[in-house]
Amino acid sequence: MSVLQVTSYGDVSCLKFSQETLDLPLADDEAKVKVLVVSVNPIDTKIRQGTNFAAKTRGNRLPWVIGYDMAGEIIALPRDYQGDFKIGDKVCGMVGFPLEAGAYTSVGNFKLADLVKIPENCTIKQAGALPIAGLTAYQALFEVGKLQRDETVVISAAAGGVGHIAVQLAKDAGARVLAIASKVNHPFLRKLGADEVADYANDECLRWQSEADLVIDLVGGQSAISNLSLLNINSRMVSVPTMSYQAVKLAATNLSSEVLGMVVKPNLKELQNLLEKIAQKKLYVHISESFYLKDGAKAHTIIEDGHTVGKIILLPNGIVRE
Ligand SMILES: NC(=O)c1ccc[n+]([C@@H]2O[C@H](COP(=O)([O-])OP(=O)(O)OC[C@H]3O[C@@H](n4cnc5c(N)ncnc54)[C@H](OP(=O)(O)O)[C@@H]3O)[C@@H](O)[C@H]2O)c1
Repeated sequence: MSVLQVTSYGDVSCLKFSQETLDLPLADDEAKVKVLVVSVNPIDTKIRQGTNFAAKTRGNRLPWVIGYDMAGEIIALPRDYQGDFKIGDKVCGMVGFPLEAGAYTSVGNFKLADLVKIPENCTIKQAGALPIAGLTAYQALFEVGKLQRDETVVISAAAGGVGHIAVQLAKDAGARVLAIASKVNHPFLRKLGADEVADYANDECLRWQSEADLVIDLVGGQSAISNLSLLNINSRMVSVPTMSYQAVKLAATNLSSEVLGMVVKPNLKELQNLLEKIAQKKLYVHISESFYLKDGAKAHTIIEDGHTVGKIILLPNGIVRE
C-alpha cells in the first residue's frame, strides 16, 4: 500500500510518498477501498501550506494523508455488515471532510456514510474527479445562490474545476450563462453551453455591467470586488473562496445586492444526482491531466499556478482505462 502524506506544512517538498505496511483493521462503520482515482483540489494545496482552517485545527498531528475526493473498488466490509454495499462495488465520495481526509492512498478505510455507488454508465475517472467540484458548483448555484430558470448567471474562473461544472449545471437549469475565462478557454466553455464568454485580462466582462441576477465568484479578492459591478439591483454574489469572502462582503456594503459565502458540505443525495447526470451524458467532468500518486507534487504545482482547466487526478494504482 502506498500513501502521499503531508509531513510538515510548506511547499511541495512537504508531500512525501511512502510504502506503508500497516493495514489498519476495519471499524464497523467503514469499508476498505482500493483507490483508483483521486482528484486534487485547491484546498489540498492550502492544507499542505498549513494556511486553511483544517490544517490550523489539526495542527501538528502529522504526517497526514490528505485528499478528499476519491473513487475505487470495495475490497472488504465489516464482518457483520448488512447494508447495501458489497465487495467489488465501485464507489466514490467526498471522504473525511474536513479534519480526516485520507484519499491520497492506494488502499484506505473510509466511512461507509461518505460513499455512494457509481452508476453503470459513469466512468470511475469522472466519478473520482467529481465530488468537491461538483458539490461546490451545485450548492453555490442552487442552495446558496438560489438560481432560477431564465435568470442570468455570471461564472468567474469558468474553465476551472468548479467553474466548468457550474456552467453545465446552470445551463441545464435554464439560466443564461455568462462565463469569464482567458481567451484560450473560450471554445471549451462554449462547447459546455456558455451563452457568452469574456476574457478577464482586458475587462471584457464590463459589457455585462448590471446584467447578473447571480455571480458565482470563484477567484475572490480584487476580481470579485470588480465583478460586483456586474450585479443587477437586488441580486446576489456567491463568493466561494473563503479567504477573501469578508473583504468582498465589506466592499458590497452600500450595494442593494448581497454577497454570500459558503463552505461545501458532503451530501450523498446531491452527489448521487450529479453522478446520474454524468451517466445520462448531461454533465461532463473534464480531466486535463493525470499523475501517479508519487507525482502528486506536480499536480499541486499546477493547481497553485491557478490555470487548471477542469480537473487534475492522481492514479494510486496505476493507469485506469475508463
Ligand atoms: N468555499 C468552499 O467550500 C470551496 C470549495 C471548492 C473550491 N473553493 C475555492 O474556489 C476556487 C475555485 O476552485 P477550483 O477548484 O475551480 O479552482 P481551479 O480549478 O484551480 O481554478 C482554476 C481556474 O481559475 C481561473 N482563473 C485564475 N485567475 C483568474 C482570474 N483572475 N479571473 C478569472 N479566472 C481566473 C483559471 O482560468 P484561466 O486558465 O482561463 O486563466 C482556471 O481555469 C478556489 O479558490 C478554491 O479554493 C472553495
